[in-house]
Amino acid sequence: TNTIKMALLGLGTVGGGVYKLIQRRSDGMEKNVGANLEITKILVHNMEKKREGVDASLLTDQWKDIIEDDEIQIVIELMGGIEPAKTMILEALHAGKHVVSANKDLIAAHGKELLDAAEEGNCDFLFEAAVAGGIPIIRPLKQCLAGNEITEVIGIVNGTTNYILTKMFEDHMDFAEALAKATELGYAEADPTADIEGLDAGRKVAIMASIAFHSRVVFSDVYTEGITKITSRDIEYAKEFDSVIKLLGVARNTEKGIEAGVYPMLLHKDHPLASVRDSFNAVFVHGDAVDDAMFYGRGAGEFPTASAVVGDIMDVARNLKYQCNGRISCTCYRDTPIKSFDD
Ligand code: NAP
Ligand code: HSE
Repeated sequence: TNTIKMALLGLGTVGGGVYKLIQRRSDGMEKNVGANLEITKILVHNMEKKREGVDASLLTDQWKDIIEDDEIQIVIELMGGIEPAKTMILEALHAGKHVVSANKDLIAAHGKELLDAAEEGNCDFLFEAAVAGGIPIIRPLKQCLAGNEITEVIGIVNGTTNYILTKMFEDHMDFAEALAKATELGYAEADPTADIEGLDAGRKVAIMASIAFHSRVVFSDVYTEGITKITSRDIEYAKEFDSVIKLLGVARNTEKGIEAGVYPMLLHKDHPLASVRDSFNAVFVHGDAVDDAMFYGRGAGEFPTASAVVGDIMDVARNLKYQCNGRISCTCYRDTPIKSFDD
């Protein structure tokens, strides 16, 4: 049959979203990417957990069930953390399986090793969801803006902290309550310290700076400061100055070298980043040809993140079927009637 078989590693917020979105998009997938996509195995930690709407026969807690299955062509890593994710991804790439991941912790620390393994194995290793959730930013930096010398990438790249700051500013919610709500909504990391101390944003800055400046910036190169020291008094002061406080990720390629950092900033309410609220993210890019470009959208959560992961999966599938990444013509598959303006 014309089916590409895939394995999911992890069935939490993002894994669950990817599982559902693959089902939702199944009609028309063959016309779009040239094959049907089927998740045939799902690796989880706890086999006893109740998982509504998921075919329980797909679940396993044994990696060997996946790595030894020659029919599986794509591995989708959505567990998070460094190990065992790193070993599993390397083994998958060495076995000739293509990999899609959203794991910024891993990519910000070991991205080069993973990309080298992908190249050696002639496999795809794609990670659009690792930075800014549903916003396309990795591909634009790598492909669409490749004709530029990029000198600046600045933005709000953590949904949890932007949600907390928005709630503190607009609803006078206290920090702990806002963090609990962000966790409930699926925005926060398994250990939310990574969000509130600026580490998660720092990992995303390292990944963007590496791609934008054709360099190797790792997480430990990035200065990080979070939002835990911001008090309700700071918020009142900001309001007095018609300003808001935002946690910014900043990467600049200067004559003296690359600057990379994450820190809270006071922004006047007229600044375009001041109106980025809730779990939304935004990234400004400055290139010598394009001038300024801005990317905006949901930076975290089940379906926004699944949107980026499934886009990567479909790219891998198109590559497998057509040996042709992003073949635009093959996406024009819907027979939707054109509505006249006179109707
Ligand atoms: P999550 O809700 O905590 O889910 C993690 C999943 O991985 C769970 O299903 C867990 O199994 C499974 N898992 C963890 N360790 C495992 C192990 N050793 N063996 C087998 N299964 C294991 O995490 P998430 O929010 O979906 O995040 C997943 C990844 O996406 C992370 O890298 C995160 O940084 C990234 N990401 C998240 C978001 C977001 O908005 N949440 C956005 C962008 C990127 P059990 O279900 O059995 O516990
Ligand atoms: N915890 C992350 C955030 C998830 O809040 O932005 C998306 O990477």
